[in-house]
Amino acid sequence: ITVFVPRDSAALSVGADAVAAAIRAEATRRDLPLRIVRNGSRGMLYLEPLVEVETAEGRVAYGPVTPADVPGLFDAGFLTGGEHALGHGLTEEIPYFKKQERLTFARCGIIDPLSVEDYRAHGGFRGLENALAMSQAEIVKAVTDSGLRGRGGAGFPTGIKWNTVMQAPADEKFVCCNADEGDSGTFADRMIIEGDPFCLIEGMTIAAIAVGATSGYVYMRSEYPHATATLRHAIKLAYDEGWLGDNIHGTNRTFHLDVRVGAGAYICGEETAMLESLEGKRGMVRAKPPLPALEGLFGKPTVVNNVLSLCSVPIILDKGGDYYRDFGVGRSRGTLPFQLAGNIKNGGIVEKAFGITLHELLYEYGGGTITGRPIRAVQVGGPLGAYLPPSQFDLPKDYEAFAAQEAMVGHGGIVVFDDSVDMAQQARFAMEFCVAESCGKCTPCRIGSTRGMETLDKIIAGKNVDANLDLLADLCDVMVDGSLCAMGGMTPYPVRSAVKHFPEDFRKKQHAVR
Ligand code: NAI
Ligand code: SF4
Repeated sequence: ITVFVPRDSAALSVGADAVAAAIRAEATRRDLPLRIVRNGSRGMLYLEPLVEVETAEGRVAYGPVTPADVPGLFDAGFLTGGEHALGHGLTEEIPYFKKQERLTFARCGIIDPLSVEDYRAHGGFRGLENALAMSQAEIVKAVTDSGLRGRGGAGFPTGIKWNTVMQAPADEKFVCCNADEGDSGTFADRMIIEGDPFCLIEGMTIAAIAVGATSGYVYMRSEYPHATATLRHAIKLAYDEGWLGDNIHGTNRTFHLDVRVGAGAYICGEETAMLESLEGKRGMVRAKPPLPALEGLFGKPTVVNNVLSLCSVPIILDKGGDYYRDFGVGRSRGTLPFQLAGNIKNGGIVEKAFGITLHELLYEYGGGTITGRPIRAVQVGGPLGAYLPPSQFDLPKDYEAFAAQEAMVGHGGIVVFDDSVDMAQQARFAMEFCVAESCGKCTPCRIGSTRGMETLDKIIAGKNVDANLDLLADLCDVMVDGSLCAMGGMTPYPVRSAVKHFPEDFRKKQHAVR
């Protein structure tokens, strides 16, 4: 009998280790043979710790389970899928899961993350095997044809980026994976590294073969110790099994991969600051051009891609660019693992093709707020993303449709707020965040954010509100036009959207005075 108890950080944070220990102890006490697999998360965070049992019909889910529930689960015969108040039936029939289109997260939560055998049994390394038999240009073409765009947020076409690196003449090239997942409400990078680390290793190796790189680094955020440990372990196994090193799968191809851990700066998720940090320097933004694709790590042509971009590559090389391209709308092809966070009843990962609306994500999957109060605003795309009111919840998830509304899809993070939120405070928070995280290289961001925070303080206090709102709008224009990178350049988006969609919150004191 096989029982699955996730080893994902989110599951661990709500007691998954204790649940696994309780199941082990109870099985011993009852003298029942049992194999416990510590899998990744299925992404239904509201059910964690989600315990699954393998049955002839498929896996049956129970959750959220506490150690105190374990004897009762045994009494109810959960090892054969018996009924229990915490039972949800077959995991894959749970509507939240069933309606998803899992391409990138296809294996996450299903396999043992640290078993190469399990990975292979679920289609792993098939994309790499295909890539090893293709020319560099053919691999790049498959990725270009798939329509895959950078999943870190900017949405730049991955195939075009790879083509630039492939064509750049150099004695050495690199592939760097940006796993400095700093956006508020995002956890997809962490979850796939913890639940399916070989997928990232495979995607990076394919990228390396495509562009002619021989080494690569994964830049992990320091707040992800479990993901870092899992990835390091997986890399060792991949070397042991000949999927990394000097003779990949007996083909004489070379790719060496290593992990570097950041030191907790949001700006190191900006690609050039990340490269500086990887070189052992302070994480400061570099001016572009030159693009990292031409002069990146140690001045060499470098592919810099987000975890989810690289994890989308194996399935593209396995099933073909057209297969991936068939999902999505307009110029937003494939799927995005959306992440529901904040004040939401059913938080977790929802991987769906582009084109899904916020409304579907928030209500059909998310189930509304956890407080039961109405949703008033959502911030989409991290701390630099716009706040959207319910009137815009029908907007399809599509890079261009969002950009037309001065909003962004970003890395797929959605943070939900109910009607108790004060949007003037949220606007102030955007400026405060920029004060804390600015690298300090350019004036509009370094100084502008502090002035923005002071101006918002005056508005919140009801002082010269009209004049200060004009000043704030002016400052936002300067930050957008004059900042070197997205940190200062996009901080105005949450501020402007809050003022535009929730103007009443900026005049609370003024009304009170009257
Ligand atoms: P960008 O638009 O300057 O560049 C996007 C990517 O395309 C970069 O890798 C760039 O080097 C590459 N590129 C651009 N032109 C190219 C060309 N001709 N050939 C080859 N490569 C080319 O955007 P940037 O500043 O890198 O990223 C900003 C985005 O980052 C924001 O939109 C935001 O959504 C996102 N972001 C993500 C965070 C996260 O935690 N994932 C945190 C903060 C921001
Ligand atoms: Fe640094 Fe801010 Fe300028 Fe970006 S916008 S380079 S974070 S000071």
